[in-house]
Amino acid sequence: MGAAVNAARDEIEGLLGARQKALAREGLEAELRAPPLDVTLPGRRPDAAGRRHPVSAALDDLVEILARMGYEVAEGPEVELDYYNFEALNMPPDHPARDMQDTFYVATEGHGPTAPTVLRTHTSPVQIRSMLGRRPPLRICSPGKVYRRDDDPTHSPMFHQIEVLCVDRDVTLGDLKGTLAEFVRAFFGEGFRIRLRPSYFPFVEPGAEVDVTCTFCLGKGCRTCKGSGFVEVLGAGLVHPRVLRNVGYDPEEVSGFAFGCGIDRLAMLRSGVDDLRHFFEGDLRFLEQM
Ligand code: DAH
Repeated sequence: MGAAVNAARDEIEGLLGARQKALAREGLEAELRAPPLDVTLPGRRPDAAGRRHPVSAALDDLVEILARMGYEVAEGPEVELDYYNFEALNMPPDHPARDMQDTFYVATEGHGPTAPTVLRTHTSPVQIRSMLGRRPPLRICSPGKVYRRDDDPTHSPMFHQIEVLCVDRDVTLGDLKGTLAEFVRAFFGEGFRIRLRPSYFPFVEPGAEVDVTCTFCLGKGCRTCKGSGFVEVLGAGLVHPRVLRNVGYDPEEVSGFAFGCGIDRLAMLRSGVDDLRHFFEGDLRFLEQM
C-alpha cells in the first residue's frame, strides 16, 4: 500500500512541477511579446501634502522667538483648579474680573483632586504652577488651549494663548517694554511699533494693554483700527506682589513681568484674516490660501 501511495505522490508532484514551469515560461514569453513599459510617462501626482495649520505655525514661531530670548516652555493642564486659574491670580470667588472669563465648570465642590475645577480661561495659571515648582530667576513661556463662554466672529469658545513670565531681582517696566518691542518686531517684522495703555488685570500692578501698529493699514489709520493706526494684541504688567506672595516669593526681594496674548489673534493679524472661526472649521479652500 505504502509503495503505491509514494508512486502516486511522485507522479502528481512531477506533473504539477512541469505544469508550473510551463506556465512561468508562457507568462515570460507573453510579457516579452507585449508592448514595452514606457518609463517616460509622467508619474501620478501624489495627493496634496499636508502642512502646519496657520495657528500652529504662529505658535511655533512665537515659541522660537521666546526661546531665542532665553525662555523655556512650561506646560499646564487644560482642566485646571479654580485656585490656579483665578484665586492664586488674585481673583477670589466674588471678584468682578471673573465675569469676563465665564467658562465651563467641571467640578464645583470639595478639596484635593475634587476641588472646584474649570476649563482654564487663560494660560496665566501656568505662571502659578511654574513659580510654585522653583525659585527665581525664572523665564518661562506657555502656549496652549484656553476656553471661555464666547462665540462670535472674533471669539471662539476654544482659542489659544501664550503666556510669558520673567521673575528675577530688579525686573522693571523697562524690561517688559524692551521684551515686548522685540517680541512684536520678531513676529510681525521691522517697523511694527508697540503702545502701552494703562489697564487693569488683577494679577499685575501696574497693568497695561498693549497695542501694535495696525497690520491692515501699517499705522495710517483704517476701519479695522478705527483710525488709530494701532490694534490691541495683549495684556501685560508687573507681577502683583500678592501673586508673588501666593507662591512663597518675597516681593521685596524679587519682581517680575508677565504678558499673555491670543495666538489666534496674532495669526489673524499676520495673515489678514477677519473671522477667527475660519481657523477652526477645517475648510481646505480657506487653509490652502494660508
Ligand atoms: N490672562 C489675561 C487674559 O486672558 C491676559 C494677561 C493680562 C496675561 C496681563 C498676563 C498679564 O500675563 O500680565 O485676559
